[in-house]
Amino acid sequence: MNESIILGIESSCDDTSAAIIRGNEILSNIAANQEIHNLYGGVVPELASRAHQQNIIPVVQQSLTKANIQQNDIDAVGFTRGPGLLGSLLVGTSFAKSLAMSLNVPLIEVNHLQAHILAHFIADANPVPPKFPFLCLTVSGGHTMIVLVKDYFDMQIIGKTTDDAAGEAFDKIGKIFGLDYPAGPIIDRMAKEGDPTSFEFSKPKMQNYDYSFSGIKTSVLYFIQKEIRKNPEFISENIHGLCASVQKSIVDILMQKLIKAATELNITEVAIAGGVSANSALRQAMQETGQKLGWNIYIPKFEYTTDNAAMIAMVAKLKFERGEFADLSTSAAARYDL
Ligand code: KG4
Ligand code: ZN
Repeated sequence: MNESIILGIESSCDDTSAAIIRGNEILSNIAANQEIHNLYGGVVPELASRAHQQNIIPVVQQSLTKANIQQNDIDAVGFTRGPGLLGSLLVGTSFAKSLAMSLNVPLIEVNHLQAHILAHFIADANPVPPKFPFLCLTVSGGHTMIVLVKDYFDMQIIGKTTDDAAGEAFDKIGKIFGLDYPAGPIIDRMAKEGDPTSFEFSKPKMQNYDYSFSGIKTSVLYFIQKEIRKNPEFISENIHGLCASVQKSIVDILMQKLIKAATELNITEVAIAGGVSANSALRQAMQETGQKLGWNIYIPKFEYTTDNAAMIAMVAKLKFERGEFADLSTSAAARYDL
């Protein structure tokens, strides 16, 4: 049997991305980042949708060229239906619908969060894919949750943030330090030259497997305001130690609940997913904890961590095999449960 060839389209936030998957193998994964938002310290929804509109055709064309695939070879079009910014989602949704209609192939809707998790099943994401049931710490700019993944499309959120997401915490604290958006990767880079024990910030006391990140953000803000009054150069003189300490606090908070969940549920298959899973300290903490507690750990390849269309194409492929197609009347959904 010929393996299916599927185009995936992602436009939920500020990355316009298109990917081609054949079987489980990614042939191309192209993304256009929208640098315009750096100027504003966060994603400006109106500018994001406008940029998606400009990027989507070239990005899709590049993904076809890189994969050496003709439009007519495509067996289905998968797209991110949600969750995300409505104006951004609408661009990908409308484009996917029109393309599927003109090629007369099935249209497949994809949940962005499921896609972050199911990226682990892309052929080159891991040496071996995770075995069900596994736990997946899903950490992005918009979400932070521990998901019990019982099967491809049978997932249960067992803990989540009650306020900010972990990526949001990185980005907002980075803003306090005067760093560009998104600050997560910058903090990661700066932390490499800093001592993570330089400063201590308050840790939340949350019930169950839930998270909170607004406390650490406030504690950093007050601390910085106090120090700056004494020494206006405090941030620049201590930036590496500040970044390393903040990163350590966030990673400690994330790992503590993940360890609690894995221990109490007696699960040793443990994965991370989402933009923050690109963080080097989190990846290292997973390695160390995995060794100590005998977990099989799954850390996605770097290009499958932050928003990308490869993960959308992967989910579309799984749904294609199940014959789960969307109607052309489907519409973007800013909120879309797992
Ligand atoms: O999954 P993603 O690309 O988009 C959403 O669905 O939100 O995640 C983006 C988030 C941003 O908050 C960004 O700062 C964070 O992931 N991020 C990182 C790193 N790379 C991306 N945070 C910490 N360390 C990184 N290396
Ligand atoms: Zn995402």
